[in-house]
Amino acid sequence: MQPTAAATFAAPLDAVGPESPRWSAWRRHFERNKRRPLPRVDDAGEIPNAWRAPLSRSLARFQLGEGGEGRIAKEIWRVRLPGIDDDYRVALGHFVAEEGRHARILGAMVRALGGELLRNQWTEALFVRGRRLAGTRMKLLVLLAAEVIGIGFYGLLADRLPEGDIRRALREIAADEQSHLQFHRAYFRTETTSAFRRALFVATWRTVATAACATVLLDHRATLVALGIPSDRAARRLLDLIARVEDDVLA
Ligand SMILES: [Fe+2]
Ligand SMILES: [Fe+2]
Repeated sequence: MQPTAAATFAAPLDAVGPESPRWSAWRRHFERNKRRPLPRVDDAGEIPNAWRAPLSRSLARFQLGEGGEGRIAKEIWRVRLPGIDDDYRVALGHFVAEEGRHARILGAMVRALGGELLRNQWTEALFVRGRRLAGTRMKLLVLLAAEVIGIGFYGLLADRLPEGDIRRALREIAADEQSHLQFHRAYFRTETTSAFRRALFVATWRTVATAACATVLLDHRATLVALGIPSDRAARRLLDLIARVEDDVLA
């Protein structure tokens, strides 16, 4: 049985603690991941015809988002944040590259479904605009929210799809997003060392993550309906993840 998003929340790197983030371990983790071959996604014959168009539209929107996070990898070398070092900066660059790999896999899924890739889209434009206006910390928080969306949505879709290339590839991406979430969470653990900073994190995290999840639920509602995924189940999964991230950062 494939693990659910909640069941896979704690991975081996969970041992990385708030006092000693061990960014070198994350650097090695991403370097190992880089050696993986791309999963094969050239057949979508198992996907029911009625699901193909809405599913490919949703995957094309995610494809756009996965490919649009490059700036932070350069910006991180120009800022001084407590608790990070050059290993963190290199790991963040690898993380961005891994998101680019997700974009390539999602692109293959869209093509296999007979869909078309997008050049721009309003929710992605909103995320990009928000990130560019924000400081580095806020950008990292938005990335943390994006991991919640990725884990929740890719997991929901994979749970619903029949066994095949697309389902397997979505599970692989969702597993990567779990690791990304832990990577960003490790950073925010180093950030939330005082009562004030913890309160600030809670207020900002709840606002950003809830707004991001509501936007995505709205944007992908046609796909949820087409695949017969109740929107309240999708919302519950995302809200559970938001609450767990908060608990884990503050733990
Ligand atoms: Fe991703
Ligand atoms: Fe990610």
